[in-house]
Amino acid sequence: MSSVHETASLIFRSTAAERLSGEARVPGDKSISHRSIMLGALAEGTTEVTGFLEGEDSLNTLRCFRAMGVDISDPEDGRVTIQGVGLHGLNAPEKPLYVGNSGTSMRLMSGILAGQSFDSVIEGDASLSRRPMKRVIDPLIAMGAVIESGPEGRSPLTIRGGQPLKAIEYAMPMASAQVKSCVLLAGLYAEGRTCVTEPAPTRDHTERMLSGFGVPVDRDGATVCLRDANPADRRLAGGRLEVPADISSAAFFLVAASIVPGSDITLTHVGLNPTRTGVIDILLAMGADIRIENRRTVGGEPVGDLRVRSAELEGVEIDEALVPLAIDEFPVIFVAAACARGRTVLTGAEELRVKESDRIAVMADGLAKLGVDAVATADGMIIEGRGEPKPFGSATIYAQGDHRIAMAFAVAGLKARGEVTIHDCQFVETSFPGFAEMFNRLGGCLELSRH
Ligand code: S3P
Repeated sequence: MSSVHETASLIFRSTAAERLSGEARVPGDKSISHRSIMLGALAEGTTEVTGFLEGEDSLNTLRCFRAMGVDISDPEDGRVTIQGVGLHGLNAPEKPLYVGNSGTSMRLMSGILAGQSFDSVIEGDASLSRRPMKRVIDPLIAMGAVIESGPEGRSPLTIRGGQPLKAIEYAMPMASAQVKSCVLLAGLYAEGRTCVTEPAPTRDHTERMLSGFGVPVDRDGATVCLRDANPADRRLAGGRLEVPADISSAAFFLVAASIVPGSDITLTHVGLNPTRTGVIDILLAMGADIRIENRRTVGGEPVGDLRVRSAELEGVEIDEALVPLAIDEFPVIFVAAACARGRTVLTGAEELRVKESDRIAVMADGLAKLGVDAVATADGMIIEGRGEPKPFGSATIYAQGDHRIAMAFAVAGLKARGEVTIHDCQFVETSFPGFAEMFNRLGGCLELSRH
């Protein structure tokens, strides 16, 4: 399991495709994969996971729990077995815990580490070291944690062990599932009833999985609460867990098949948790032809197959309520908007500026290089869709260490008059191993080289 940082820069060259067709299952959901390792490690008994995402981000979470003494098998074809050590069974890591590019690992693990008896240091790569961590430090300190950080709450974070935590009722200033999850996970170690109120609904995988592991989380409107219990009496019970395919990875193909005329693809076993399906709602509002087939529930999460056929897209004003429900999909939604007829306006999405890159600035820049009138605003973007068969010219794009920027521009290449060259694509490994192969198998034209 080598790190993406040890590999040379990977370049994608994407050119126009005739049509996309076929069936594919994208890799496992990243959010659920992280949580499966964390809760499996803290549970009593064995947890057997299938469909686990073998991407760098979730592998980093896996490595961190191994470094704290948890016996976790090498993932094989999405199968991982975790021998849970119980809520109080982790060991002090010998070295700083390294989470690479993964904000989810750092923010969720901070909550767990705040409740341990030992000190720990958690650090990531250059991109992660620029991302805001104060959003988790503040509520954890309010719970009694002791955390040292770099300037403005940047990582590395040093989390002091042996601090008794107390429950809080936390009103989150931003709609963040990572902050909500961090507080709930710390709440497992806190005396009293920990509650989090969200300003808008965010993904609820932590709540669902905690309940599945036997620790119920109650929801009352916008507030979720762990039931009051003595921390010494709380127990998670290991079991089987199936991870659905990641709708955030499927999104690249939802857009790709929508914008290339004559396309007809089916994406199987996609997670359709209603806190994640904003991308489908936005594309449907733009006129996309997406049908959900075989709806079923797997491991407490709704899943289905998505059949996507090409359609003439139209620009829309994106409903702000959909923003947290599609937060990771905007890079490729911007590509769809650039292909659509008419103007698309996104507002209320300032969180995009603190993702793996500033996704508003990087996408607006890249689209402008491709000849699109895309204007970045403080909290979103205004895109004048070109509605042409080939709206994009040729350009060289730098993905800025951001996997989803790289994949979004690979999709743009499908509608380019020339070639879209994308540097820094090794980061695609963080969430979507096998992306290029699947892209080409479905009919895309992506060439890979390293330098
Ligand atoms: C995630 C929550 C989102 C999302 C990230 C994964 C999670 O982040 O962007 O990719 O697994 O909880 P925020 O909570 O910061 O919005």
